[in-house]
Amino acid sequence: MSAVKAVRVSRVYPGGGEPVRAVDQVSLSVAAGELAILVGASGSGKSTLLNLIGGLDRPDSGKLTVLGTDMSASSEKELARMRLTRIGFVFQDFNLLRDLTLLENVALPLEGAGVARRTARDAAAKALARVGLSDLDDRFPSEVSGGQQQRVAIARAVVGDREIILADEPTGALDSTTGHEIMKLLSGLSKEGTTVVLSTHNPANLPFASQVVTLRDGRRVETDSDAPLDTEAARA
Ligand SMILES: Nc1ncnc2c1ncn2[C@@H]1O[C@H](COP(=O)(O)OP(=O)(O)O)[C@@H](O)[C@H]1O
Ligand SMILES: [Mg+2]
Repeated sequence: MSAVKAVRVSRVYPGGGEPVRAVDQVSLSVAAGELAILVGASGSGKSTLLNLIGGLDRPDSGKLTVLGTDMSASSEKELARMRLTRIGFVFQDFNLLRDLTLLENVALPLEGAGVARRTARDAAAKALARVGLSDLDDRFPSEVSGGQQQRVAIARAVVGDREIILADEPTGALDSTTGHEIMKLLSGLSKEGTTVVLSTHNPANLPFASQVVTLRDGRRVETDSDAPLDTEAARA
C-alpha cells in the first residue's frame, strides 16, 4: 500500500486577478520507506504539495490518500491528530522553540497528543539518540549548531515512531557538508521504514532519492531520468 497517493490533486489560490494553480492535477505514489524528492524552481508548488500531504491544507480537487486516510474527507480534528501522531514536519529554518531545551522541543508533539510527560521525555531522548544527539538533551537551540538544530527538528518529526516525515527544503539553510549529513540521516531513517518526502532545489540531494518528482508551475513534468525511452533514438 502506498504511504502517499495523489490522483490529479489540485490546489488553487483565488487571488485578486487570475487564480494561481499552485498544485495542478498532480498524481504521485510514494511507497512506505521511500525517500521521495520534490524538485522545482521557487514557486513551482513544492511547499503547497507538502502542506496538502501533511494535512495543513486541503486539495480543491482530486484525491489524496495519506496512510490510508482520505485527506479531503477527514475532519480538522482528525488531520490535527495525524500531524501529532503519524506525520512529522521539518522546515528549512528548524522552527524550534528557543525557550525550551532540545529534549523539551522533541517531547512537545507527544505531550500535545496527551502522552504523560515522563513517557514523552523518554521517547524524546530515544529520538535524539536516533539522530545522533545523545548528550545534548538539556541544551537550548541557541547553544548548538544549525546542523544540530536540524537534527533536533528531525527527532521531533519522528518522535513516537511517526510514519512519514515531510521536510520542506531541510538543507536550504545549511552549508553543503552539513546538508549532506542531514540527507544521509533522512536516508537512513527511510531505510529503517519511515517514509520521507522532501523538497529541495539542490541537485546534490537528488542521488538520495528513491523517486524524484519534478514540478513546474504546479504541474508534474517528466525529466530526462524518468522519461520513457525514445525508441527511435534507442534504435539509432
Ligand atoms: N497562501 C497563498 N496564497 C496565494 N498564493 C500562494 C499561497 N501560497 C503559495 N502561493 C502561490 O502558489 C505557488 C506555489 O507556491 P509554493 O508552493 O510556495 O512553491 P515552492 O514551495 O515550490 O516555492 C506560487 O505561485 C505562490 O506564489
Ligand atoms: Mg517552498
